[in-house]
Formats: sequence, C-alpha cells, structure tokens
Amino acid sequence: MNKKKATIYNILFLVTSLGILIFLLKAPPETTVKLPRDKNHAVFYHMPKKEAEQHCTQCHGEEAGNPLPVGHPPKYRCLFCHKKTPSP
Ligand code: HEC
Ligand code: HEC
Repeated sequence: MNKKKATIYNILFLVTSLGILIFLLKAPPETTVKLPRDKNHAVFYHMPKKEAEQHCTQCHGEEAGNPLPVGHPPKYRCLFCHKKTPSP
C-alpha cells in the first residue's frame, strides 16, 4: 500500500469512528416501561434478576391474564429491559 492510500484509509477510519461516536451519544434516553412497584411485583425487588425472570410468564405468558403486547421484542431477559423502578 502506498503512502497516499494509507492516509486516505486513516482519514476514512477517523470519520467513521467519529460518526459512530456521535450516533451513540445522541441515542434517546431509555423509555421502556419499568417493572412496576406494586403488590404483584414487590417480591421481585428482593430476588436476583435471573431468578425473578422465571416467574414473569405466570402472569405475562400466552395464556395468562396479562400477555405481552403484539410485536413485543425478544423476551429472554425481562429485567434487562424492564428495569426496577428506583425506590421513591
Ligand atoms: C402475580 C402476577 C404477575 C407477575 C408474577 C408479574 N407481573 Fe407484571 N404485571 C401484572 C399485572 C396484573 C400488570 C398490569 C397492571 C399493572 O400495570 O400493574 C403487570 C404489568 C407489568 C408491566 C407493565 C407496567 C406498565 O406500566 O404498563 C411490566 C413491564 C411488567 N408487568 C413486568 C413484569 C416482569 C418483568 C415480571 C417478572 C419479574 C412480572 N411482570 C411478573 C402481574 C404480574
Ligand atoms: C429487549 C427488551 C425487552 C425484553 C427482554 C422484555 N421486554 Fe417487555 N417490553 C419491551 C418494550 C420495548 C415494550 C413496549 C412498551 C414500551 O415502550 O415499554 C415492552 C412491553 C411490555 C409490556 C406491556 C407494557 C405496557 O404498558 O404496554 C409488558 C407487560 C412486558 N413488556 C413484560 C415483559 C416480560 C414479562 C418480559 C420477560 C418475559 C419482557 N417484557 C421482556 C422490551 C422488552
């Protein structure tokens, strides 16, 4: 590779990195609804996340009373997206 080409690649690399950085910094704040702080969900505040997540589908499964909305994103780790509501 000659010198001129290398310089062009370096500039391209810098511009791309800068672009990605700006994109990440401009990402909107998290808007996903948080885990409610009510009697249905109170127990999960005292449980490790992985353990708590095994109980969610009892009430939020296909046949349960509160199914997930249509088009819900992949649902493996509930609490990664639905964060606990910070204590008041
Ligand atoms: C005992 C039944 C029950 C269990 C278990 C349960 N939920 Fe719920 N959940 C409900 C009910 C009922 C509602 C709807 C009423 C409300 O908003 O509190 C709800 C609502 C929600 C909402 C929406 C809140 C809103 O503001 O619209 C989220 C998010 C949620 N649950 C997440 C979870 C997660 C994550 C788990 C597992 C850690 C879980 N739930 C376990 C009964 C349950
Ligand atoms: C990849 C992220 C992600 C994961 C994992 C996830 N959810 Fe969601 N969930 C969302 C998004 C996004 C919405 C759309 C509503 C919103 O803007 O919060 C939603 C909506 C919901 C709602 C309806 C809230 C309402 O008021 O309309 C419930 C209930 C819910 N999720 C429960 C769960 C449960 C239970 C699990 C685990 C089995 C789970 N979610 C896993 C991202 C996620």
